[in-house]
Amino acid sequence: MSAPIDARLRRRVLWAMPSGLYVVGSAAGGRVNLMTANLAVQVATEPTLVAVAIDVAALTHRLVAAGGCFSLSFLAREDRAVVRRFVKPVPEADVVAEGGRVVSVAGEPVELHATGAPVLARAVAWVDCALRHRLELGSHDVFVGEVVAVGGPDGDVLPVLRMEDTRMHYGG
Ligand SMILES: Cc1cc2nc3c(=O)[nH]c(=O)nc-3n(C[C@H](O)[C@H](O)[C@H](O)COP(=O)(O)O)c2cc1C
Repeated sequence: MSAPIDARLRRRVLWAMPSGLYVVGSAAGGRVNLMTANLAVQVATEPTLVAVAIDVAALTHRLVAAGGCFSLSFLAREDRAVVRRFVKPVPEADVVAEGGRVVSVAGEPVELHATGAPVLARAVAWVDCALRHRLELGSHDVFVGEVVAVGGPDGDVLPVLRMEDTRMHYGG
């Protein structure tokens, strides 16, 4: 029988897995949210699929499941203060719309593209995804979306924010 796992070591090892740090946009039934997430990765090339693991208790979970879409905003490496703003659900009062279209969330200007999931205007690159699969895993569900719209600079995509640029951890 193998030795029991040391939970602290397990956490530190899993925290060492390199990851990006993104802001997930979601929208359903007139409600929108932005949420900081690092458990996100591309999982297929044909079709082009991106997966994100979302806590089953999160507002984002409810909105992605109901709205059938999500976006990922990629931030500049110096923009780490932005992710701190989206570690709690955004109150409805902090969502500003003009002419029925959401223009800012918690004071951050946003844009809507193919699906209606908000994308940070300051994002250096972004993907907008239509939900294709959902895997129920326990604490989190993995939502897999097909990339239906994408944005970024001409030429090379700029270096984007990663977990290692912050002193934050998640998971483990
Ligand atoms: C650095 C960092 C990374 C995070 N990554 C994830 C993640 O990948 N998935 C997730 O469900 N929550 C993640 N969270 C927690 C959510 O940002 C936070 O619980 C969120 O406000 C809950 O989502 P909601 O606003 O949709 O309710 C992370 C938090 C931090 C600080």
